[in-house]
Amino acid sequence: MSALDTAMPARMTEVRAAIKTGLETALARLPAGELRDAMEYGCVGGKRIRGFLVMESARLHGAEDAAALPVALAVEMLHAYSLIHDDLPAMDDDDLRRGMPTCHIQWSEATAILAGDALQSLAFEQLTDPAVGDTEVRVTLVRRFAEAIGARGMVWGQMQDISAEQAVEPLDLNAVKSLQQAKTGALIGFAATAGAVMRGADPAPMAEYARNLGLAFQIADDILDVTGDEETAGKRVGKDAAAGKATFVSLLGLEEARDKAAAMVRRAELALTPYGDGDQTGAAAENLRQLARFVIHRQT
Ligand code: IPE
Ligand code: IPE
Ligand code: MG
Ligand code: MG
Ligand code: MG
Repeated sequence: MSALDTAMPARMTEVRAAIKTGLETALARLPAGELRDAMEYGCVGGKRIRGFLVMESARLHGAEDAAALPVALAVEMLHAYSLIHDDLPAMDDDDLRRGMPTCHIQWSEATAILAGDALQSLAFEQLTDPAVGDTEVRVTLVRRFAEAIGARGMVWGQMQDISAEQAVEPLDLNAVKSLQQAKTGALIGFAATAGAVMRGADPAPMAEYARNLGLAFQIADDILDVTGDEETAGKRVGKDAAAGKATFVSLLGLEEARDKAAAMVRRAELALTPYGDGDQTGAAAENLRQLARFVIHRQT
């Protein structure tokens, strides 16, 4: 596979710039002070994969960028909150994130907890922006978002992940799969289906794409924890094994985990078939195909 095949999609540069400006604008409306500073800090950097998924899913279904942007901001704010809390001493106890000291190191634990809380609230606020669509669309998005990130989704996955560290019996492959589908996959699933929901289209093909992409993404994250370089990754590595976390890598070994991730990417690409191939539908589905390949070849 050529270097080009595994690079970030070109449109990502444009989308990342729009997300950066959008986040800065939304945060600038908050009262000045340490809370806002810490929220801003937590939103700096990142690949913006989830925001990109929202924008591309919207484009694929005929929604305007201006309607999709608040949804992309919501997803990236929520993701930033999840990372701030994930890094706390009571969770993964990390001191490096996106190449910078983690939020609780830069500020304090209390500020980091509150910054995460407030980013979550601000994320919901974005989804109510009238630019997103009519009331029914916005309520549906809010409900799907809440389901994806709470006790049925991301937070449930985080709970399983943390509990597994203390478990006597290591989790089996199915348990790791459902943990990761929740921890990482649920928010990715929301992001990838948002465009279909906004346009009243069937979200099933994008949900299938996201199921496979999310797992491939988390397997790649687990592989990075073993093989990655701290400077490039911008976060500590070697933490999962040290904490005794059950991951695809700990259960399958590196090589099989890589094969599994590659198989998931092929399935993710296949799930996009209803949108036609890249030539017929323009750049949107092709960008999503490229994103899937990028996700497992990334070093950061
Ligand atoms: C890292 O996510 C956390 C996981 C869910 C594995 P990303 O790798 O998308 O983090 P950023 O946003 O690019 O920093
Ligand atoms: C984090 O997973 C998942 C969420 C924040 C929901 P990890 O703990 O594997 O993420 P990294 O490796 O610290 O980025
Ligand atoms: Mg974690
Ligand atoms: Mg972590
Ligand atoms: Mg990780």
